[in-house]
Amino acid sequence: MNNLLEIKDLTKSYHTKEGEILAIKDISFNINKGEIISLVGPSGCGKSTLLSIICGLDKLDKGIIKKDKYLKIGYMLQNDALLPYLTIYENCILGLKIQHNITKERLEYVEYLLKLYNLDEFKNNYPSSLSGGMKQRVG
Ligand SMILES: Nc1ncnc2c1ncn2[C@@H]1O[C@H](COP(=O)(O)OP(=O)(O)OP(=O)(O)O)[C@@H](O)[C@H]1O
Ligand SMILES: [Mg+2]
Repeated sequence: MNNLLEIKDLTKSYHTKEGEILAIKDISFNINKGEIISLVGPSGCGKSTLLSIICGLDKLDKGIIKKDKYLKIGYMLQNDALLPYLTIYENCILGLKIQHNITKERLEYVEYLLKLYNLDEFKNNYPSSLSGGMKQRVG
């Protein structure tokens, strides 16, 4: 499939105590294999909402999302979403732990990535002692 992702007429509102907030209205686009796409728009226009829905972290109200069955998505959240009571290393392996996916090779890969992103010497620190950029790299 050349078309990796198809979004059609996607609409999403948030329901809050203050009322309904329309975050996305009837957005449609396709992403094809090999394409690099930037999503640009003013603050509050719905970019993060859209990404959260594409990744399955949030639900849409209306519309269609079709994903290629082999599509794998990595999502760097806007906020680092690190758990403050775990060290950097513990945060890094949390996903593997929850999914019972810890293997020697995967732990070696985590070590490799920590070195690659210059985070190795901070792996026993807690997120509160890292800079914003460092926390994003951990994320
Ligand atoms: N959890 C939520 N509950 C209620 N309203 C929300 C929630 N998340 C986002 N919104 C609202 O939905 C709209 C879109 O927010 P969103 O975070 O998707 O914007 P954004 O384009 O990512 O903005 P920014 O560039 O500032 O990150 C905004 O009006 C925001 O107030
Ligand atoms: Mg955002």
